[in-house]
Amino acid sequence: MCGITGYVGVKDATPVLINALKKLEYRGYDSAGIAVFDGQEILVRKSKGALKFLEQKLAKEIIRGSIGIGHTRWATHGEPSDINSHPHTDVSGSIAVVHNGIIENYVSLREKLEKKGFAFKSQTDTEVAAHLIHFYYEGNLLEAVSKALKDISGSYALAVLCDKQPDVIVAARKDSPLVIGTAKNEQFLASDVTALLEYTRDVYYVDDNEIVEIKKDSVKFYDNDLEPITKQTSHIDWDIDSAEKCGYEHFMLKEIHEQPAALRQTLSPRITKEKKIDISEIASDEILRSTERIVITACGTAYHAGIVGKYVIEHFARIPVDIDIASEFRYREPIFNPKNLFIIISQSGETADTLAAMRMAKKCGARIIAITNVAGSTLAREADAFMHTNGGPEIAVASTKAFTTQLMCLYLIALKLAELKGTISEENLSKAIKELETISAKAEIVLQDKKTIQKFASRTFNKKKAFFIGRLADYAISMESALKLKEINYTHSEAFAAGELKHGPIALIDTDTLVVAICTQRALFEKMDSNIKEVKARGASVLCITYENEHFFDDSADAVVHIPETFDEFTPLLSIIPSQLYAYYCSVQRSLDPDKPRNLAKSVTVE
Ligand code: M6R
Repeated sequence: MCGITGYVGVKDATPVLINALKKLEYRGYDSAGIAVFDGQEILVRKSKGALKFLEQKLAKEIIRGSIGIGHTRWATHGEPSDINSHPHTDVSGSIAVVHNGIIENYVSLREKLEKKGFAFKSQTDTEVAAHLIHFYYEGNLLEAVSKALKDISGSYALAVLCDKQPDVIVAARKDSPLVIGTAKNEQFLASDVTALLEYTRDVYYVDDNEIVEIKKDSVKFYDNDLEPITKQTSHIDWDIDSAEKCGYEHFMLKEIHEQPAALRQTLSPRITKEKKIDISEIASDEILRSTERIVITACGTAYHAGIVGKYVIEHFARIPVDIDIASEFRYREPIFNPKNLFIIISQSGETADTLAAMRMAKKCGARIIAITNVAGSTLAREADAFMHTNGGPEIAVASTKAFTTQLMCLYLIALKLAELKGTISEENLSKAIKELETISAKAEIVLQDKKTIQKFASRTFNKKKAFFIGRLADYAISMESALKLKEINYTHSEAFAAGELKHGPIALIDTDTLVVAICTQRALFEKMDSNIKEVKARGASVLCITYENEHFFDDSADAVVHIPETFDEFTPLLSIIPSQLYAYYCSVQRSLDPDKPRNLAKSVTVE
């Protein structure tokens, strides 16, 4: 999704803006641009394609000034092109705007403005904002932006520059993330904190319907009617290294390798000295004990974590769990009562569909528990309670450590509910906790032996189709594995519940099909072995993921990858890792960039 940034201070703004845009690249974009006030006028440079093209332009057409705004665009309205790139200006070039989000009523606004004589250059929705602000400008940018926003419906994180007030940036937010970084004599703004970390760790999270006036030495917040709002800064305490590659070729590989540490960070603070689970941050024991039903909602990878969550909560705590994709849930008519818990999962905490689902559940009176990786995110702030996955920043578009840490949170919730509901014996609970404490070390073991996967990837990366099959939790992991391969290797990959093969999908199997069979549910080994034999007999190449020292599948599969022994319920924490690595190595074999797959954005902040 688009990334926005801004700077006002004492430094040369261009390198600061470019630097911040580089940090936002991971969000996905197809063009980039900046606008800087050079002392006389606002100069705009923009370019279709990668940031390096903008940098090349800036090397020839240098702009210097200590105030500016920047943007990486992920096209929604109008093709990726220089003209459609942001910043957009009014006709006189006096006002420049960068915007992340969608102005839903831009067609009618554009018609009205055109009738008043405003000439449009681009096909974007954003350009209406520049003209509207010009229309309302009467010497006060803050007031002009506030009036323009009253006409706009849709979502936005907006930053505006005006040559008549060259010491101020006005920014605003509704349903799109925005943070302001503050330091002595300089202020920064960006779509997320990773872009600011190099300069400051003190940030303000802008809330919906807030407008901010940012000057070199002040940050002032207002509501829609320009009533002042008092806000506190938050201090970011994670290390900048966590947002850098640290010697790994790609963020994705780094983040796959960070899973053992991330899992430890998720688990340890929630296990007491007495080896009990403490998740009091999400609800009192009383609330948890009286929970009669749970609804889990999320998108993409987080949704797959939710499916595992359903299995384990139902297995351990015997509480019925419904799971839904957020983009579907928000348009249904779900049924809730106050004894229902609504668990909403999102790495970024900013996904538009997920936020809409949460708000809808809230209106229905459900208690909302957010599992997210971003403490200051909208989801974390709007939910009734928030469980931090503690995974550290995830930069690669394809989610890896976010998934396993989300799973860890769900295991903790499942076991705590089981303890409170009395559906697990004390002995089995302490065995389960003990086992969870070994998972991080076991994840290290999976990561030590990558040769089989690398070799298999080099032989199969260009297969036309890839099917992931499994049963129970292995089916959920099949879905997540298929998504990984789809996202970064552009392979048509699908997950099938292994038992469903015969009901249709087996018709697709031929010699150009890769089948990855995830086999960690011991009671179902024989069934899985039959499925492997069925697809082998029809020409598929088969990779099997199962336990170490397990030879059940040696004769049926072409290659076998092992994970250490653990409880069958906990295998998702380990069995996903070979699939993540497989997708990564396939993508590298094809010379693709696994960190920035085509058409995808890290944080999907528009519907
Ligand atoms: O930030 P979120 O967890 O809400 O994001 C949800 C999905 O957009 C995300 O998981 C997406 O599917 C990833 N690219 C998967 O790798």
